[in-house]
Amino acid sequence: MPPEMPPETAPGNPPFPQPFDLSFDGRTIHARPGQSVGAALVEAGVVAWRTTRGEGRPRGLFCGIGVCYDCLITVDGRPDQRACLVPAADGMRLESGRTGRDTDARER
Ligand code: FES
Repeated sequence: MPPEMPPETAPGNPPFPQPFDLSFDGRTIHARPGQSVGAALVEAGVVAWRTTRGEGRPRGLFCGIGVCYDCLITVDGRPDQRACLVPAADGMRLESGRTGRDTDARER
């Protein structure tokens, strides 16, 4: 039986995509090609990156499919981006905090 070979080195497989870095509030986190910003944050142990307007409750990923707007985040200076839909990119700068959109669905 041939020895186990990692999939990225198996003959005929394309090169395994390399991880890259982005920053979250000045902290470096790692992401892999194909991950959303939200997935990269959660993998880095960050589960909340803003608070609700009314009660200041923490919010991060909820639906994960772009419907609830709980995951709003500032990406490269652009506020109110849905972290679950924005693909992570090398060198991206993410900022937490209150965003300007009136979309705290679970507080209505
Ligand atoms: S988690 Fe619901 S819109 Fe992003």
